[in-house]
Amino acid sequence: MRKESSIHGQWSSRLVFILAATGSAVGLGNIWRFPYIVGEHGGGAFVLVYLACILLIGLPIMMAEILIGRRGRQSPINTMATLARDEGLSRSWSLLGWLGVVAGFLILSYYSVIAGWALSYVFRAGAGSFSGQDADGVRAMFEGLVSDPERLLAWHTIFMVMTMMVVARGVRSGLEQAVRILMPALLIMLVLLVGYAMAEGHFMDGFRFMFRPDFSRLSGNSVLVAMGQAFFTLSLGMGAIMIYGSYLSSRASIARTSATVVGADTAVAILAGLAIFPIVFASGLEPGQGPGLIFITLPMAFGQMPGGVLFGTVFFVLLLVAAWTSSISIMEPAVAYLVENRGMHRVGAAAAVAGVAWLLGIGTVLSFNHWSGYTLFDRTFFDLVDYLTSNILLPLGGLLIALFAGWRMTERSVMEELGIRRPLLFRTWYYLVRFVAPIGILLVFLRAINLI
Ligand code: PHE
Repeated sequence: MRKESSIHGQWSSRLVFILAATGSAVGLGNIWRFPYIVGEHGGGAFVLVYLACILLIGLPIMMAEILIGRRGRQSPINTMATLARDEGLSRSWSLLGWLGVVAGFLILSYYSVIAGWALSYVFRAGAGSFSGQDADGVRAMFEGLVSDPERLLAWHTIFMVMTMMVVARGVRSGLEQAVRILMPALLIMLVLLVGYAMAEGHFMDGFRFMFRPDFSRLSGNSVLVAMGQAFFTLSLGMGAIMIYGSYLSSRASIARTSATVVGADTAVAILAGLAIFPIVFASGLEPGQGPGLIFITLPMAFGQMPGGVLFGTVFFVLLLVAAWTSSISIMEPAVAYLVENRGMHRVGAAAAVAGVAWLLGIGTVLSFNHWSGYTLFDRTFFDLVDYLTSNILLPLGGLLIALFAGWRMTERSVMEELGIRRPLLFRTWYYLVRFVAPIGILLVFLRAINLI
């Protein structure tokens, strides 16, 4: 029953899949979102819970998502329908695909707005606007940007069009080549920034903040946010990794591939934290200041370091590329569905998906200015969309994926698709997917609503 390839094509090698999946995983989630939520949730204890979620929930679910995707070889909606049929299960499993598509639209809508900030910072860095700025100066610059809806909208539009253009052409031509060079470059830039933070920032303060756990600062909600971040940063729970898995060759090892992607993603997040917090503490800034964190700290570092104009520009270009390779994967599941079921051409499908996400994104644009006063549960539109997707929809999707692979597919199909030859390794994974991940997700949900 295994299909050899998808109608949308196939990655040319396992390495390309690793690059594409890493491109999807490494993005704003690692460099923008991770540091600011670590800052908001008090540091070390949060990081520890996050790492535990990555290892015990994220990694096994990533393997499950890839194996489901590769077995179905279609958009997540159709993959779930096909696998459910093959395994003699209810067709309502395709709702899991729909859940992912809804989450994808919501994530893409605000992802593009924030990527727009990165885009605008490329030009600011290039123009040397950071030179000699102090904390107040860079903050004023950031606030000037987000308080201006027209500028935000313009950058959001440009980024959405960039994403649409790549998805319309098919992911393989162009993107493969780009990620090959750009992802390693991003890593080098981050290491360089950590070097700067070591030399010029309060490195040990930053290090302690990130790694010394103080569990008294950890609420039930923080645990939910840490788990949500694990899903978000690994692109899990909405079908992005599933569809990338559907383009993976049947021979590639899912376990080794997933471990590589998870390792790279985690390394980038930790490096981003180690680059940012020392600068935060050295300049008397607040770690919990929210979404503007990297857009305030890093420009200050670039403004003061020798060669900062060049490094700053390169850094924001790389951030932009990291965001781009992620947003492409967020768009892909819905586009593949439109191509498969509505007979649309990729170009039309990409335009339709981009258009809807763009419209939704206007809500995020306005959250930072005209609508900043309109809140629900103390959250702006942007906060709500971000909270709902990362902390609820993605873990829910992940839970269903774990249940499907762990309990509903037969052990034979799962084993065949994973192709793990070492029994101990397979048993460990199976145990994590059947018990640890689902129970973990449920407990965190219950804890967050104060039921336990
Ligand atoms: N993982 C991406 C990031 O960290 C975001 C993403 C979420 C991508 C969900 C695909 C699906 O920025």
